[in-house]
Amino acid sequence: MAQHDDGGENATAGSAVVKSEPPVVSPGTAVIPSDAFENPGLPPHRLRATDLDPHKDRVAERRVYTLFFLSIVGSLFAVASYVAFPIIPGNTMSVRLNTLMLGLGIALGLLAIGIGAIYWSKNLMRGDELTESRHPIRGSAATRERAVEIFKEGNEESGFGRRTLIRNTLIGALVATPLPAVVLFRDLAPAADPVAQLEHTMWAKGTRLTHDPTGVPIKAADVTLGSVFHVIPEGLNDKADRLEEKAKAAVLLMRLLPADLHISPGRESWNYNGIVAYSKICTHVGCPVALYEQQTHHLLCPCHSSTFDVTNECEVIFGPAKRPLPQLPIAVDSEGYLVAQSDFHEPVGPSFWERT
Ligand code: FES
Repeated sequence: MAQHDDGGENATAGSAVVKSEPPVVSPGTAVIPSDAFENPGLPPHRLRATDLDPHKDRVAERRVYTLFFLSIVGSLFAVASYVAFPIIPGNTMSVRLNTLMLGLGIALGLLAIGIGAIYWSKNLMRGDELTESRHPIRGSAATRERAVEIFKEGNEESGFGRRTLIRNTLIGALVATPLPAVVLFRDLAPAADPVAQLEHTMWAKGTRLTHDPTGVPIKAADVTLGSVFHVIPEGLNDKADRLEEKAKAAVLLMRLLPADLHISPGRESWNYNGIVAYSKICTHVGCPVALYEQQTHHLLCPCHSSTFDVTNECEVIFGPAKRPLPQLPIAVDSEGYLVAQSDFHEPVGPSFWERT
């Protein structure tokens, strides 16, 4: 059946199909340039081997149903292998075997059905070239007029245009409806000023440095050259909000040769015989900086590879962090335990907080 789209109001809404002939194409909403080349139409239809030779047609048919049969076998194999090779808890080999067999079965099932369907459509289904013409998207003049009428009728029946007070209060009500949500969202913000909370940690003058997580105080004599300790402030484990406090106060303690330390003026007394303490909270986005390279004296953040040079007051030598790790000034008390001289002198963690 062939139908030609006349491009006007009587265009057929369904598909207009032209068989192996140059179609008369409706421009629809497209802009046709004046110098458009002539439509060459479709090339002459070429019959396939299966169209000409009944034997080849039967061979192709056999191939298709063989592929579909293989697909059935693959799917059944997947089901059977799931039962035959069960996953035994704790046995890695059983997981591998189960996954392998299941995967092979499903792959065969999907691959065979896909290849079979494509082969079927290419060789056995009707091979005529078809063209589907576009039709105008714009509605007919009558449809458009009717739409305007319906709109006016709706306006008249609802009184939306006439009863202006109702209309305006409705608009006001719609605008006011989301306001409670704005108030509720406001309550999602922290109750206290986060900057003030993050500016200070648990560290204070005389607070002992203790092992994380045991809370056992650390003596300066225990910190041997090249060693590194994960440290929390004494008393942290007794606090109700210890996780929040730990997220700010965690410290790394290392001992280097005093001669290896490059100390800026004013920080000369912040280390004890080469023992230095730095915030463990990365100044990029706050991951714990937990990797210490003993030979190079570099601290590495595992999140985005920011690298800090301990010999140069933890300045950033690589990665996205923008400022050094804050240093905790330390000293030794009368019993030989390491203690803080004060809190950090700058906010710990992501650089964002320093901007206030
Ligand atoms: S959080 Fe440390 S590098 Fe990003």
